[in-house]
Amino acid sequence: MGEEIKKGLLIVFEGTDGTGKSTQLKLLFNVLHGEGYPVLATREPTDGQYGKKIRELYVKREEYSPEEELELFLADRKEHVNNLLIPALKQGKIIVCDRYFLSTAAYQGALGFDPETVLARNSFAPDPDLALIFHAPVDTGITRITSARGDTLNDFEQTENLEKVAEIFAAVHRPYIERIDASGSIESVHQEVLNHVYTLLADSSFPTLNLQ
Ligand code: TYD
Repeated sequence: MGEEIKKGLLIVFEGTDGTGKSTQLKLLFNVLHGEGYPVLATREPTDGQYGKKIRELYVKREEYSPEEELELFLADRKEHVNNLLIPALKQGKIIVCDRYFLSTAAYQGALGFDPETVLARNSFAPDPDLALIFHAPVDTGITRITSARGDTLNDFEQTENLEKVAEIFAAVHRPYIERIDASGSIESVHQEVLNHVYTLLADSSFPTLNLQ
């Protein structure tokens, strides 16, 4: 996406399941919104036609081939990019997005695809300005899902799979990636997120409000 038409900022939250990224995304959204920034929260998989199919896949992953699975995530992202992300970036919004293409590299990479090939297949999607990768021991994440959230593990959340996912997240390098140790308290992780975001705002041409 040409910089001349992109006025907004894209901040994505990435990491293995149960690292608290969705909680942290909400906290960040509330702060930015409270300060008067034009902020928009969204997520992948989306609630669109492909996102709905992906949610079916959570419980019967074996019914889909790896290529079909990858194609579904890419189709969902294309729709998201064209219908929401690019228009919002052109309008100058700060987008906070729960999962983006690094998740495809890590999760579909864990399925057997080469992570860099997966990233290359995402070339239609604008690069984020900041990707926060949340990491914590996989066991901690699983305990958060099963005891704290009272959920059962879906097909993506099995321990062995998440270990591979975490390895790929740890191995991927891009200039816009910052890593967040998610094993701290909600408040300390929130402060760390804010520090990265305020640094981005100060470094970008985005008009800053109420900078501390
Ligand atoms: P998650 O953030 O847990 O969404 P929800 O709270 O709606 O369940 O993401 C759902 C799962 O989808 C998660 O286990 C990771 C997986 N996923 C992929 O495998 N590839 C992708 O490209 C994305 C975006 C998610």
